[in-house]
Amino acid sequence: MYYQALVNKKYKYQYQKEMFLGRVLVPAVDVDGNQIEIEEKTYQAYLDLQKKLKEEKNITIGICSGYRDEKTQQQIFSDFVSLYGEDYAKKTVAMVGCSEHHTGLCLDFSVFADGKFLVEHSDIMEYLEDYEKISSYFSKFGFILRYPKDKEKVTGYAYEPWHIRYVGKSLAEKLYQEGLTLEEYYQNISGILVVNKEKGMTSRDVVNLVGKYFYTKKVGHTGTLDPMAEGVLVITLGKATRISELLTSTYKEYIATAKLGIETDTLDITGTILNQCKIPKELPLQETLEIFPKTYLQEVPVYSAVKVNGKKLYEYARENIEVSLPKKEVTIKKMELLNQQEEEFSFRCLVSKGTYVRSLIRDIGRAMNVLATMSKLQRTKQGIFFIEKSSCITDIKNGTAKLYSLKDALRDYPQISLSFPDERKVVNGQSLVNSKKIKGPCVLLDTNDQVLAIYQGKEDKLIAWKVLTTTKE
Ligand code: DAL
Ligand code: ZN
Repeated sequence: MYYQALVNKKYKYQYQKEMFLGRVLVPAVDVDGNQIEIEEKTYQAYLDLQKKLKEEKNITIGICSGYRDEKTQQQIFSDFVSLYGEDYAKKTVAMVGCSEHHTGLCLDFSVFADGKFLVEHSDIMEYLEDYEKISSYFSKFGFILRYPKDKEKVTGYAYEPWHIRYVGKSLAEKLYQEGLTLEEYYQNISGILVVNKEKGMTSRDVVNLVGKYFYTKKVGHTGTLDPMAEGVLVITLGKATRISELLTSTYKEYIATAKLGIETDTLDITGTILNQCKIPKELPLQETLEIFPKTYLQEVPVYSAVKVNGKKLYEYARENIEVSLPKKEVTIKKMELLNQQEEEFSFRCLVSKGTYVRSLIRDIGRAMNVLATMSKLQRTKQGIFFIEKSSCITDIKNGTAKLYSLKDALRDYPQISLSFPDERKVVNGQSLVNSKKIKGPCVLLDTNDQVLAIYQGKEDKLIAWKVLTTTKE
C-alpha cells in the first residue's frame, strides 16, 4: 500500500491501481448519517485528529466525504456544475479517474458551528477562519492540506481548506515545515536510494520502477548490475543524477559463486558452454586466492559494453567477428574464501571500479589450471553504501525506502559550508579561494546546509565543476 501516491490530473488513479493492492477500506459515517468508507489507517489517523481537536480546542469535526467510486465522483461533478457552474466545478472537483478520493486516503471534513455541521459550500466559505485555525494539527497525524491557498497552478485545484490527505507522519511533517505541496515535493526530489536489486531485474527496470514511485524522470543508476546479479544498486534521483561519477569511482564488494569445470561465452552460467574439463581433486583454492596478484591487467569479457574502434564488444560477439580483447588494470583489494565444494566455491572480494568479477573467476580458475564460470553474484557494498542499509523493491513500493541526502552520500569528500557572499559567487560559477588547500573534488553546502555545487581544488583556487542550481532567490 503506497501512502505517498500522487494522484492528480497528470498522474491519474486509474493508471496507478497496483499501488493500492491490499488496501483496506473501513466503514464510517458522515455528518448526515450516511455510510461511507475510508482507508483504515487514514480513518484511524482522522479519529485521533478529531479527538485532539475536541480536547485541545473544543472544536468538533465530522466527515463529509471519504472514498469515492467512479460513479459517485461523476455525480458530485455534475452536481457542482449545476450548483456553481462548470468553471467553478472544474477548479474544485476532479474528473472521474483523477480524484484522490478514489484512493480512500483523503477526506473532506466539516466543522460544527452555530449548532450545525457546515456542509454547504457557501457555509464553509463563510467560516474559513475556523478551518484555518485547525490546519496546524494535520501534519502531527500524518495529514496534509492537499489544495492549499495560492497553489492552484501547482495542484490544479482551488483552495480547499476541508480536503485533507493522509501521507504518513514523516512526509506530512516535512511538507508542512517546508510549505510544499505533494506535486512540489516530487518535482524537487533529489537524493540517493541504495536498492537491493533482485535477481532477474535489469538495472533499467529498477530505474523505471523508482521513476514511477517518485513521479520523476530524473532517475539514474551508478554501476550497472547484470540481471543475473543481485544486491547493491545505487540509484540517483533529481540533482543526484548529475554527480553519479562521484558515487561510482570507488571500491565495490561482491560475494560470488563459481562453478568449476566449465567455460561459457559470457563467462557466467547464463551463457553457452564452450569448453569443459575435469575438476582436479585437491584444488589449492585458499592458496591461490592468497597469492593472487593485487593489481593486474584483466582481459575485458567479450560480452561487455566496452568499445573497440567505436563498436561495442558484444556487437562483435553477436556478429561472430574476432576481435582482440582489451586489457584493463584492476586492483583486487581483498579476497576471502567463504565456501569450497567439489564443483563450486564462493568468495568475497573487494575490487576496484571496472573489475569484472566473471573475468576474475576465469582468472582464478586459470591460475589453478581449471575452468571456472560465475554462477551467482551479489554486490554487498559500493563505496559507502552497504547491503545491510539498502532498501528492497517492496520498500520502494510501500514508500518506506530510505532516501539519502546528497550531503550524506558525499560525506567522504571534503565539505565546505558557504557564507552568504560566497554562496552568491558559487551560484554564478565563480571560483573561490582554496584556503584549505583541497586537492580534487569538494562539496559546497549552501546556507541551508544543502549541496549547492561540486568544486575542484586546484592549487590556490576552488574551481566550479558542477553547480547544482543556477537560480537562487
Ligand atoms: N475536490 C477534489 C479535487 C476532488 O474532487 O478530488
Ligand atoms: Zn475532497
